Amino acid sequence: MEHDDDLDCNPTDNPTLTAIASVSRRQVLQGALGAAAVAFIGGPKQLLAQAASRFSFASVPASQEDRVLLPEGYTHQVVHAWGDPISGGRAWDPWAAQTAADQAEQVGMHHDGLYFFPLPLGSGSSTRGLLAVNHEYTSEGLLHQTGIDPLSADKVLKSQAAHGVSIVEIALSGDRWEVVRPSSLARRLTGYSPMRLAGPAAGHPLVRTSSDPGGTVVRGTLNNCAMGATPWGTYLTCEENFNQYFGSGPASAAQTAGQRRYGLPSAASSRRWEEHDGRFHAGREPNEFNRFGWVVEIDPYDPSSTPVKHTALGRFAHEGATVTLARDGRVVAYMGDDAQNEYVYKFVTRDAYNPANRAANFALFDAGTLYAARFNADGTGEWRELAQGVNGLDAAAGFASQAEVVIYARLAADRAGATKMDRPEWVAVHPQTREVYVTMTNNTTRGTALNTVDAANPRANNVFGHIVRWTETGGDPAATTFRWNIFALAGDRTNSDAAKRGNIRGDSYGSPDGLWIDDRGILWIQTDISTGSLNTGDYANIGNNMMLAADPATGETRRFLTGPRGCEVTGVHTTPDGRSMFVSIQHPGEPGSGDNSSASPAAISNWPDGPGINRPRSATIVIRRTDGGVIGG
Ligand code: FEO
Ligand code: CA
Ligand code: CA
Repeated sequence: MEHDDDLDCNPTDNPTLTAIASVSRRQVLQGALGAAAVAFIGGPKQLLAQAASRFSFASVPASQEDRVLLPEGYTHQVVHAWGDPISGGRAWDPWAAQTAADQAEQVGMHHDGLYFFPLPLGSGSSTRGLLAVNHEYTSEGLLHQTGIDPLSADKVLKSQAAHGVSIVEIALSGDRWEVVRPSSLARRLTGYSPMRLAGPAAGHPLVRTSSDPGGTVVRGTLNNCAMGATPWGTYLTCEENFNQYFGSGPASAAQTAGQRRYGLPSAASSRRWEEHDGRFHAGREPNEFNRFGWVVEIDPYDPSSTPVKHTALGRFAHEGATVTLARDGRVVAYMGDDAQNEYVYKFVTRDAYNPANRAANFALFDAGTLYAARFNADGTGEWRELAQGVNGLDAAAGFASQAEVVIYARLAADRAGATKMDRPEWVAVHPQTREVYVTMTNNTTRGTALNTVDAANPRANNVFGHIVRWTETGGDPAATTFRWNIFALAGDRTNSDAAKRGNIRGDSYGSPDGLWIDDRGILWIQTDISTGSLNTGDYANIGNNMMLAADPATGETRRFLTGPRGCEVTGVHTTPDGRSMFVSIQHPGEPGSGDNSSASPAAISNWPDGPGINRPRSATIVIRRTDGGVIGG
């Protein structure tokens, strides 16, 4: 998306480490890929020719075409696009004339993170399941037939209804996936669906509002970006840039430290919900702001269940929550806070996962320990505990309770000495090596006085981003120390500026965002180059946003998919057999600045419906091999 809400809100001088140890480019490269990678910088073709490729497909060239391109032998179809009915609702209207009530029964806008849950629960089916998809945000110029003006209460409601999550039943019929309609399991969660607040912040005065004086029930989930999935078959949807939904807050000088640190807007919001829904008027209802920015757990198998906002995992611009198990069975969630100079976090549950009793796991995320990561210059790392009474988090510092620690997790991590990173996005855990990978999408404020270059964020004006990885001590995700290095510095190997060439062993890319490692250990990397940067300036040779496959062992990287014009490629998962891969194509046709024009919404793209159609639509596609084989192998 256009990340005007990912800007720096971190005024601290938390470590950027050059003051402690200066790190040479050579050290960084050795940390990233070892001596072979350093050699590779001088002779890419030679080195690649020596190593047997992990992949059986040929790279897709960079593309500026308005379509999805895949390697030879692969095919794709749309599973569902914005406005399609999830079950028995109104069909897609190409003029976007659907009402708020229609939209609440249709797939939401701007598809993002996703997950395939086999049906029935526990079956491991690769032919029938529930597809959960996040809808990150809305473009008002596309959403409403006449654009945002004149704004009405119904338009605000429709915008809220196009947010949230879609859970849709799908089945493989021959070689095509179809949405099952009607389905008793299909469900929409929107910007106004009731959700329960749980964990340390539930009921705290900072989350009480005029419509919820007890501070335990929130309406809606917003800006649902990436995700996680638990071993007990629930979906975690993560609230990222929630501040953009609030308007008319106090002037910055009159705000609390917590409001400023989370970027509470003083001006009107671009969607202007606050004009018709007082919850979003931050001057009148300031605590509503504290009820977003959480990880939300949804049971996709029970459409009557109430989603839970687990406040123990901390409040920030949550990209995702990648779940793995500690050696003793406790549950660990890795999380990025996607804004410039923010932190990487993890949460370790107090209690262990119970494979024999599904319901017993639903409260696991309500008790445990939250940590923020410190990346030391010598390749070691520490998880700094964010617990009241620890690491300076006491009443005198503004943390009188754990509720305040989690509501103001950014402030707590500042104080605990976490390392400011280049916009932490998705996290992936390698199923065999247990290495953990996290994308740093980019950070043009790196290299300033407050955000000096450091070992883990080694490039000033980091326009291309990089991927950091670490190994927990003892290979145990519950460990409090780790060793880290840099997997890849993204870039364009033809850039005239050596620092922008990166060290990718294979195809050029930038702004890595989506990240997932499949069962065989293939690292799937998705890019979110902002639409203002696509195919221009440093990104002139990079093409449209894409997905690549990388070999974690060798660094070999091949472009697997290119998306249509103006889109972001985000969200990836396969069926258990690895033969159907789901990927979201978000905001095709988004202009380089501002919203789509309601007068000519298809000016840039008419994907996926094609010529003669008047507006592009975000969608989830499914990729198959024409020979029915496993994707990417
Ligand atoms: Fe929603 Fe950080 O991408
Ligand atoms: Ca993202
Ligand atoms: Ca992004």
